[in-house]
Amino acid sequence: MTTEQPRVLLVGAGAVGQVFAHYLRAAGCAVTFFVKPKYAAEAQKGFALYELKIRERAPAPRPLSGVGVLTSEREVQKTRWDQVWLCMSSTALRAGDWVKKLAASTGDATWVMLQPAIDDREWLSQWVPPERLLTGMIPFLAFQAPLTPGDALAGPGTAFWMPPLTKGLLSGTRERLWPVLSALRAGGYPAQEDPDVTRAASVPSAVLCALMLGLETQGWSFERLLQPEPLARTLGAAREAARIAEWATGASSASVQALLKPFVLKSALAVATRLAPVDLEAFFRAHFTKVSDQTRLMARTYIDMGRGATLDTRQLQALLPQDAPRAPR
Ligand SMILES: NC(=O)c1ccc[n+]([C@@H]2O[C@H](COP(=O)([O-])OP(=O)(O)OC[C@H]3O[C@@H](n4cnc5c(N)ncnc54)[C@H](OP(=O)(O)O)[C@@H]3O)[C@@H](O)[C@H]2O)c1
Repeated sequence: MTTEQPRVLLVGAGAVGQVFAHYLRAAGCAVTFFVKPKYAAEAQKGFALYELKIRERAPAPRPLSGVGVLTSEREVQKTRWDQVWLCMSSTALRAGDWVKKLAASTGDATWVMLQPAIDDREWLSQWVPPERLLTGMIPFLAFQAPLTPGDALAGPGTAFWMPPLTKGLLSGTRERLWPVLSALRAGGYPAQEDPDVTRAASVPSAVLCALMLGLETQGWSFERLLQPEPLARTLGAAREAARIAEWATGASSASVQALLKPFVLKSALAVATRLAPVDLEAFFRAHFTKVSDQTRLMARTYIDMGRGATLDTRQLQALLPQDAPRAPR
């Protein structure tokens, strides 16, 4: 890192953007949000962040204020940016031509992508040279609190939980990666280098995608999902998605496949719901309703890839709603 404050442009000031703004500011970075005009006033006012911890109720809010706010590429062009972070869904990433315009307005900046769709990196490489593009995996849960009316856990504001021992993996060329890793670590974020995050995240993301489609078919109820028949269908779809991710990236799915058993999922959910300082059922409902177009796009991509590779996709198809979009090219 240079002695100058790194200038970081965070695209999207939703749950993830706010959490990264919090860590990057703690590291002394000069952080600016690039938001849609409809969010400019809210972002200028600032946000209240609540960091949740196991066995700690009602944390005090941490104000996130004084962050710069820009809404147009013309304004962006006036500054020399060190980093551009993409803090929106895979579907929002591909909506319109804003990535192309922003890439043309941000010079030689390092870009950090956090999107979960398996081909997002390849898509982005059309506009951002691969040597300038870092890939990250998000290890925390962040959401608009309260999740349910009357929930006194946190809020109003954005609550987040960094589960203990989790790592925020990042990959990319050394020269581009190190300034970002150092800044995140200086801000207290558990950043860790990984040789290839697209590969490392591919199987877990595929499994999560299938589990969330299954949970959605059961009205976001863990109890209903854990009934024998929906659970068998959902785990079958998760096994298919994991095999497709393995085929696409070369990551092994063996250890994850071994865990895709009814009693393992039931036990994992029982432990997680007991430990997590957040109502996980309510979180999954709120978050995966918000990003439902992204989950559908991801599932559609697995199905298309699976068919191309003559892998079984029948159980995934059975869970995917008919209206699911394909990823724009
Ligand atoms: N939240 C979590 O716990 C979590 C955990 C793991 C992974 N993720 C992933 O992280 C990504 C972001 O999630 P999130 O929870 O932060 O979503 P979010 O709260 O909806 O935030 C995304 C923000 O980016 C804005 N946006 C979209 N396109 C934009 C553009 N071209 N320019 C500027 N702003 C733009 C969105 O505006 P609109 O409201 O108009 O769309 C929204 O305000 C998703 O892929 C999600 O799956 C999230």
